Amino acid sequence: MKTMAWIIGLTAAISIFYGQLTRGANTAPTGQETASSATTETGKPPMPQVVAQCATCHGEDGVSDTRYVPHLAGQRRGYLMIQLRAFRDNTRNNPGMHAVVRPLSESAIEDTAAYYWAQGQVKRSNTDGGSSVNLDQKLTELVEKCDRCHEPNEFNKDAIQQYPILAGQRREYLAHEMRDFQSKHMRENAMMYAMTDLLAGEEVDKLATYYETRRSTMRVGRH
Ligand code: HEC
Ligand code: HEC
Repeated sequence: MKTMAWIIGLTAAISIFYGQLTRGANTAPTGQETASSATTETGKPPMPQVVAQCATCHGEDGVSDTRYVPHLAGQRRGYLMIQLRAFRDNTRNNPGMHAVVRPLSESAIEDTAAYYWAQGQVKRSNTDGGSSVNLDQKLTELVEKCDRCHEPNEFNKDAIQQYPILAGQRREYLAHEMRDFQSKHMRENAMMYAMTDLLAGEEVDKLATYYETRRSTMRVGRH
């Protein structure tokens, strides 16, 4: 019995240590995208009970296994905070998310956002920067515009934290959100209304798959 307990203890210790190690490796985004919350530098949940609740839909550590539920792991901290406040204030309309965010204090929102951002940025193993989707000329030119906001570059140095990472996000979710912008009543954003107005139905799905399969700066799921 004693040996058994010892083995279990050792296994737990190793997995905790290994967890810290891999988290450490994943929590080193570069430059201005660095996650900088003292409470979450080790990737430790600031409020285990809150994060456990999120995990029932968004998956363990924010890696979603569910088609229409977005990954949170590795998503930008500033963007996550904006969205959590928007769900709380019903400027982004989603009753389920409204219910879970409403009880959270402002500092709980900040800690939760920092926690998911710190869950790391892991590259997809199946791509080398390209995507499995070939885009025609119209979509190629359009993606250059999308990336001016969504990918880090010289144009958005100061604003980047407000824009969501798309690369590596679930395709069904991305397509669903683009259609929400097209319908102009679920999420309010004039620029995204204008951008998605340029897209026909099948182009929405094509872009969603394009971004899901593009090399990701976001932690990617097990789907
Ligand atoms: C009952 C399921 C459920 C629970 C629990 C839940 N979420 Fe969500 N969450 C969703 C769904 C579904 C969406 C997509 C909403 C949409 O389509 O607009 C979402 C969207 C989000 C988004 C927007 C992501 C993006 O890319 O714009 C954030 C941030 C988020 N959730 C954070 C959380 C946090 C933090 C918790 C825990 C406090 C949580 N969620 C708990 C289902 C859930
Ligand atoms: C001028 C900046 C800008 C451009 C250009 C832009 N976006 Fe966005 N996009 C945003 C912002 C800001 C948001 C978050 C809006 C909000 O707060 O609801 C967003 C949100 C999104 C979302 C929702 C992601 C999520 O996690 O919920 C998708 C999908 C998206 N954009 C796709 C695109 C595509 C595809 C293009 C090009 C056709 C594009 N965007 C061009 C600024 C931009």
